[in-house]
Amino acid sequence: MKKLNGHNSNGPNLNGHAMNSTKSNGQTRKQLKVVSLFTGAGGLDLGFKEAGYKCVFASDIMPQAEKTFKLNFPTTPFICKDIRLFSKEEIKELIGDETIDVIIGGPPCQGFSNMGNKNSSDPRNYLFEDYVKIVNIIKPKCFLFENVKGISTMFEGRFFDKIINSFLEIGYNISYSLIDSSKYGVPQKRERIIIFGSRIDRLFKFPKPNMHSFGKLSSYMNVGEAINDLINKDKIIPNHIVLKHNEIVVQRYALIEEGGKLPKPENLPVEIRRKKFW
Ligand SMILES: C[S@@+](CC[C@H](N)C(=O)[O-])C[C@H]1O[C@@H](n2cnc3c(N)ncnc32)[C@H](O)[C@@H]1O
Repeated sequence: MKKLNGHNSNGPNLNGHAMNSTKSNGQTRKQLKVVSLFTGAGGLDLGFKEAGYKCVFASDIMPQAEKTFKLNFPTTPFICKDIRLFSKEEIKELIGDETIDVIIGGPPCQGFSNMGNKNSSDPRNYLFEDYVKIVNIIKPKCFLFENVKGISTMFEGRFFDKIINSFLEIGYNISYSLIDSSKYGVPQKRERIIIFGSRIDRLFKFPKPNMHSFGKLSSYMNVGEAINDLINKDKIIPNHIVLKHNEIVVQRYALIEEGGKLPKPENLPVEIRRKKFW
């Protein structure tokens, strides 16, 4: 039985694995390789690129995802295809002689989201099986599987148990944690389950919250720090559309505390309350 490490653990950070840098003896580290599944626009990929990884190939079913991805990664092969249709031979051909260090991917989450249809037979809920299948073909050293919080609780946690057991069965040690992106330098509170699997015989520990700056990411950043540099740049930055708020709306927004929401109408000064809500 492989190890299951399912708690929020603290300890050394992941950065030690991820750097593509010069060692103290002057030698250059080998560039680490990643394969990206359910790539979407390539958000996870940007993080891994930032950490020094080279993407051997990326894949998603949506042509629009390919178009966006290609803008950021013009030289990375992108296979626009339903993941269920990949054959073992095709995967092997795509990998060639490369040794893959990590597979990354966040399968669709609508079926596990509180906003979704809560239908356990939604075929998207079963796409994790294809993720497991490809991990088993490529056998990377590690994989990172990302999804919404609901995946661990929806349908009495049956899918989550199945996912964890499937990875254990193909020989991976598993750690998982609920991660809040705002504790890792992202100016947004967003909770996600990260399942990290490894064939390396070393205990994996999730990075400590608010501890490390990494690449362009600082350990903590609020929205203002992230986007204040966009002020007065709407003429030169594509798709940057500035809303023109009136003075009352600006006064309301000024009352939002960091990380908070607009106060309830009854808690706003009368002169800036909305008159109508329909
Ligand atoms: C949660 S999103 C992933 C977002 C991505 N991690 C990012 O950083 O942008 C899930 C992706 O799965 C893709 N997808 C859905 N069904 C698929 C299928 N059958 N085969 C391959 N990709 C699929 C969707 O098009 C979507 O881009």
